[in-house]
Amino acid sequence: MEDIELLNDTFNLYMQKGKEAKEKGNFALAKRNFMLAGETMMKMAKQSQGSLREARMKRARRIVDLSSTLQEKKTETDDEVKKWQSAEVPNIHFSDVAGLDDVKKAIKIRMINPYLHPDKYKLYNKKTGGGVLLYGPPGTGKTMIAKAIACEVGAKFYAVKGSDIVSKWVGESEKNISALFTEANKQDRAIIFIDEMDSLLGKRGVDTHNDKRVNEFLQQIDGFSGQNPNLLLLGATNRPWDIDSAVLRSGRFSQKIYIPLPDAEARQFMIEKSMKNVPVAKDFDVGKIVAKTELFSGADIEELCDRAKDEPLLKAIEEDKVVLVTNADFDKVLKVFPPSVTEADLKLFDKFNADINSLLKRRAKATKKAEDKK
Ligand SMILES: Nc1ncnc2c1ncn2[C@@H]1O[C@H](COP(=O)(O)OP(=O)(O)OP(=O)(O)O)[C@@H](O)[C@H]1O
Ligand SMILES: [Mg+2]
Repeated sequence: MEDIELLNDTFNLYMQKGKEAKEKGNFALAKRNFMLAGETMMKMAKQSQGSLREARMKRARRIVDLSSTLQEKKTETDDEVKKWQSAEVPNIHFSDVAGLDDVKKAIKIRMINPYLHPDKYKLYNKKTGGGVLLYGPPGTGKTMIAKAIACEVGAKFYAVKGSDIVSKWVGESEKNISALFTEANKQDRAIIFIDEMDSLLGKRGVDTHNDKRVNEFLQQIDGFSGQNPNLLLLGATNRPWDIDSAVLRSGRFSQKIYIPLPDAEARQFMIEKSMKNVPVAKDFDVGKIVAKTELFSGADIEELCDRAKDEPLLKAIEEDKVVLVTNADFDKVLKVFPPSVTEADLKLFDKFNADINSLLKRRAKATKKAEDKK
């Protein structure tokens, strides 16, 4: 018979090791220790009598149960990381994205060419890797551009939606962030895309869960930045002012790219694309629709075109003939469909952009002063 005190010490040791491993997110190790603790408690139960025996048995079972739920959690974390990793590369190309030529150029230089021409980047000693933030009003194509990047570069693409992680992983998201970076770091080339970044990385000091997430994230970025030129971070948000400023500073998401509302040319491209091969009236005039959709986002344009087809389509079904889409169909929808982005929203972006510009100006001034001194 084993000494009960020795058993008790052993039990405590296993429990402590299990708890430590669990806190570190090492669920396999935690599970092993809790299992051993459960077995030890069972041995202690067998050496005792009456209600103490019952109580120890119960405790042993509870610990074993606890360790089996840990196993589930571990697989869930793995599954989650796997889910983020897009099995299928999206079939969206840059040529599908209307307008935004400057944006496409910046992205090509920063995110696509380093993957396609690594030898040239080496020759010019160009820095690669790091973070790029796409920001702008809702429905302007930020998520679409991220998908197009994945499609063009053929890198492993991990797509994470801020709101998903937050709602699902209250108190757990730090571990998932760390698992994500570890997994992405193993790849030859990888892009981590964080959509709705504001909900994942809000300003610190309000919510402790958020603060933990931000700290973990900063730690992860600092850990890989400069060390893995083949890992790129891509973020998207329509509320950049809500993101913790430490996340956005240089060396992290240093490059910020504004994705504005589509200009007239881009709107024309989108409308034409939506109406391609659709039977339209002879005098159908896309230009007139373009002129009436000044503040419309890409998503708005898409919905407008879709809704404008409703009536002719319904009529075509009822009367079993081809009914042409006309400008009047668009006008009817336009009367009841205001753009989803308001002037007030745009003012917030103007202010955010002005703040960035004034920072840039201040830096340029300081550089000039330093150069003049030389
Ligand atoms: N520049 C664009 N070119 C072509 N289609 C566009 C463009 N912008 C938006 N769209 C259309 O609008 C849809 C929504 O765009 P997307 O989801 O990329 O917007 P977003 O900028 O990510 O918006 P949010 O900030 O709300 O996440 C796209 O699937 C696409 O059909
Ligand atoms: Mg989006």
